[in-house]
Amino acid sequence: MRDKLQQIKIDALVLIDNAQTLEDIEEVKLKFLSRKGELNSFKKKIKDLPADQKPVIGALANEIAQELEQKLNDKLYILQREEILKRIESEKIDITMPGKAVYSGKKHPLTTTIDEIVEIFQGMGFSLVESQHSPEVETEHYNFDMLNFPPDHPARDMQDTFYTQLAPNVILRSHTSNSQVREMQTKKPPLRVVIPGRVYRAEDVSSRKNNLFHQVEGFMVDKDITFGDMKGVLNEFIRLYFGQSRPTRFRSSFFPFTEPSAEIDVQCIMCKGKGCRVCSQSGWLEILGAGMIDPNVLKNAGIDPDVYSGFAFGMGVERLAMLKYAINDIRLFFNNDIRFLKQF
Ligand code: DAH
Repeated sequence: MRDKLQQIKIDALVLIDNAQTLEDIEEVKLKFLSRKGELNSFKKKIKDLPADQKPVIGALANEIAQELEQKLNDKLYILQREEILKRIESEKIDITMPGKAVYSGKKHPLTTTIDEIVEIFQGMGFSLVESQHSPEVETEHYNFDMLNFPPDHPARDMQDTFYTQLAPNVILRSHTSNSQVREMQTKKPPLRVVIPGRVYRAEDVSSRKNNLFHQVEGFMVDKDITFGDMKGVLNEFIRLYFGQSRPTRFRSSFFPFTEPSAEIDVQCIMCKGKGCRVCSQSGWLEILGAGMIDPNVLKNAGIDPDVYSGFAFGMGVERLAMLKYAINDIRLFFNNDIRFLKQF
């Protein structure tokens, strides 16, 4: 009996020693120490022993049970420790690894430019007009007629203006000046407003021209407004927009809706006036059309030109952005190439 007990002990110790996992430990426990395990089965046989042997063998069985229990717990402790260390190792975070970049959305450079232009004029007392007085799909009436364009003016030609099939005379506006009379008809002078928006022209696309571009329209109507006021406001705008006075020139020009009219050029930033592809070798980039509002336009809007006068201007947003950020191709604004957009 004693030998049998020793054998059980040795078998169990070998298995405990070989156990690699917590499951192995469970198995040993089950095999030797559970209710139906080998030690218990052995103990059941003790009652058949001679009386003098019962206590001795019984005591020895208990002793072995205790020893195995102790060994199992020791081994369990070691394996649990190993498992924890393994987990710590596998979950270790290398804080020296480069992180994943998070890209956030940004304003389009044209939106930024429009915001900047509007803000500068707001600083000079102009207010921003919402789009209801500035539709992109427009009638010839507001785009041309009310602005004093004669019926046979070449700008009405199919080559410059996109005509729609919605109705005869419904077009995509060719300039934001369409909003001038709409705005003047609904308000009384004094007026000082800026109106940004998209405009459309049927042009050959090139580095300087696109079918769709943006303008900011503005005008001021009050008593005693002069050409000098206009020059002052526009020069101040150019100074604030570029952060410095840049060479500009006011060229006399013609628009049906202004008299006198001027075009304002800024020196080409690409070639510093020497002449390049962007400025068509002229050294200058036109950014603005402007002039004193023609009395006919004021009359069309129901404003008495004998009492009131005003100036108006329209500027190309893309041109202004190209000058400021040294961009040499207008198409970059519309291709939506992320490598371009993310630079702003
Ligand atoms: N509408 C003109 C254009 O698109 C620009 C312009 C010129 C606007 C003179 C004006 C202005 O308000 O007074 O070329």
